[in-house]
Amino acid sequence: MAVIPVDIAGRPYEVRVGNGLLSDLAAQCQGRLRKRAVPIVTDSNVHAAWGEAIERNLRDAGHEPQWRILPPGEKTKSWDELAATVNWLLSLEVERGDHVIALGGGVIGDLTGFCASVLKRGCHFVQVPTTLLAQVDSSVGGKTAINTPAGKNLVGAFHQPSLVLADLSVLETLPERELRAGYAEVVKYGLIDDAAFFDWCRTYGAAMLAGDGSLREQAVAHSVAAKARIVAEDEFETTGRRALLNLGHTFGHALEAQTGFSDRLLHGEAVALGMVLAARYSAHRGLMAQAEADQVTQHIAAVGLPARLTTLGLNCDASVLVRHMLHDKKMDAGTLPFLLMTGIGQTYLDKQVSLDDVAAFLDAELVAA
Ligand code: NAD
Ligand code: GLY
Repeated sequence: MAVIPVDIAGRPYEVRVGNGLLSDLAAQCQGRLRKRAVPIVTDSNVHAAWGEAIERNLRDAGHEPQWRILPPGEKTKSWDELAATVNWLLSLEVERGDHVIALGGGVIGDLTGFCASVLKRGCHFVQVPTTLLAQVDSSVGGKTAINTPAGKNLVGAFHQPSLVLADLSVLETLPERELRAGYAEVVKYGLIDDAAFFDWCRTYGAAMLAGDGSLREQAVAHSVAAKARIVAEDEFETTGRRALLNLGHTFGHALEAQTGFSDRLLHGEAVALGMVLAARYSAHRGLMAQAEADQVTQHIAAVGLPARLTTLGLNCDASVLVRHMLHDKKMDAGTLPFLLMTGIGQTYLDKQVSLDDVAAFLDAELVAA
């Protein structure tokens, strides 16, 4: 098992990465859980796959699990589910010193973390991420949120978990497409500031996705360590350091919006294509060597993630995508900062990007062979 510390000032915690953590949940939580009603928020897919193992483990340890089983999918990150879940926690008499368990992917982690942040002005929560994306990204760092009609993740809080248990065994039941989508966030850490890790991805990424356990532990542990480092430096995303984690997200959000935040394009798939577009746009601007941008495109394509805009079959021109970008929450004093690259592992925040230039680039990408 790998143990990665997240050194947030005043509220440090651990991310444990290994096999079998979920069926050892009570011991892993080391006295954090109360005996009576232990609140566990999950979705129906995760409950069907892993609910029984957790129920057995907690009952054997003398706990009484209480389940809130929500519908899977992005729609669950809503005001309605927030209110209903907070009311449910209140009905269980959860106190500020208690721990709520978030068992699921990013949707469950984001919703449950936000509930924990407002419950009696903040109670504890344990993240038990069950998707690759949640293990390498969303469960670490304390961003929590719901969606509103105005956009995704526009209402939320920074609220750190007190423990993260990334059990690699749970990835066995994760649909292959979801696994692949989560891999985009792994590659992201290489592209941000770790060219050697991008090389690792090119060498081992496919075998990791195919199921090699040791490679999975290396990929998750390395990614978590990268995220932990960045979050510890800039917990509240004020210095620009944490913003680097949004590589590919401005292009990606526009594509998610244009495809209706639906199964047509999963979040991780949008990030994958968004990173390719960031690399190709950087090369178009002469910031990055075309050969390096091609390496990014080729690796994303090689693992079966969308690597070219034409594959999405979008029926729009670039001005529509740029309009989606203008609704992005990362707008800063009327300009839209873009994460661009001067090379693989050399991402930076550019505040001088012309949206007309981006639109011209995207128009060419929409028809490129
Ligand atoms: P998700 O939570 O919707 O899970 C994807 C699907 O996999 C769901 O259908 C779920 O039921 C199923 N599933 C999950 N684990 C499973 C398992 N082990 N076995 C079988 N099925 C399983 O999606 P996600 O990709 O994990 O998360 C996406 C969300 O995360 C988005 O809402 C995004 O905004 C958010 N996010 C947040 C952060 C952050 O820092 N807070 C970072 C990245 C993404
Ligand atoms: N996923 C981006 C962040 O945590 O900041």
